[in-house]
Amino acid sequence: MEPEFNFFQQWYPLSPVEDLVLEQPTSVTLLGLRLVIWKPKSSQTFRVFLDQCPHRFAPLSEGRIDDKTGNLMCSYHGWQFEQQGLCTHIPQAENPELVSKNKENLCAVALPVRQEQDLLWVWANAKSSEQAANTPLPLSPQIDATIGFVWSSYVRDLEYDWQTLVENVADPSHVPFAHHGVQGDRSKARPIPIKIVQSTPNLIEAATVGSFETTITFEPPCRLEYAIKFGNSEKQVGLVTYCIPVSPGKSRIVAQFPRNFAKTLHRLRPRWWDHISERNQVIDGDMVLLQQQEYFLQQTQSTPSWKTSYRLPTSADRLVIEYRNWFDKYCQGQLPWNQVGISVPEIRNLNNNR
Ligand code: FES
Ligand SMILES: [Fe+2]
Repeated sequence: MEPEFNFFQQWYPLSPVEDLVLEQPTSVTLLGLRLVIWKPKSSQTFRVFLDQCPHRFAPLSEGRIDDKTGNLMCSYHGWQFEQQGLCTHIPQAENPELVSKNKENLCAVALPVRQEQDLLWVWANAKSSEQAANTPLPLSPQIDATIGFVWSSYVRDLEYDWQTLVENVADPSHVPFAHHGVQGDRSKARPIPIKIVQSTPNLIEAATVGSFETTITFEPPCRLEYAIKFGNSEKQVGLVTYCIPVSPGKSRIVAQFPRNFAKTLHRLRPRWWDHISERNQVIDGDMVLLQQQEYFLQQTQSTPSWKTSYRLPTSADRLVIEYRNWFDKYCQGQLPWNQVGISVPEIRNLNNNR
């Protein structure tokens, strides 16, 4: 039976635009598909192609942006492609008509892209561009300067699976312990009761009950967002994460950190300082826990293993349970690696992940 949820008919942010390289193509992997990001000289926006030259499959990410044409040149035999992927030049062509008459047959595969909210978005299927055009991006309502928010962005590749990443971000109660001293304080940890406000195939919304009014939204497959209000004030801080499936045992987090106060501090504090003093430390704080957790969970014999293996007696784990149930129900507890020709051993070797 086919899973109900289609991971390929979705928008994913690949990176903050400010972190992309203008001068040369870059490779990136999404759902096991190797892609190339590049910016044509004539275009305002970046493009994303399958990282495979149609000639003889050399990776286009090893190519270059041609100085004269501004197009993407394959490094193997010099074929060139414009922003839609059409072939514009074959140095070996005996006559120019060979290219002009066949350019659609000789093209690189271009995926639908958008640039919004400072991020580069890609639709993970080149064949359904019409559906892409009709599907809204999973944007955050907090990334909006017109209602007084400022934000910074972040991206990092992670050595654990998308499943583990979503489970971790859906779990606020680990923060004072796994991120003690960076975010939170273990001596101040207390119960975090969570209630599920709504749960549909396309959206799970949860709220924590306590002094801070917090809503947590999971819009599958990638947007997992916190909005935290402080008492009766208008002050609000957010954590917007996009959890990107890369390949078995690897994921990428694209995050944005909005708030509607302390805006001068936001202007003064350099982004790199934010990254080294806090963001990277948060990610490093639970990396070793998550990698080992993932390995142990794979070793359990039952299916779905989390349900019988985990012990989840408190409502702090309520959203983890809701997300895992969603994943079992609509995705049969699996990412679609088989659709991109990747077979996953039942237990991945932990050492290979390191
Ligand atoms: S493989 Fe790209 S030009 Fe030959
Ligand atoms: Fe964490």
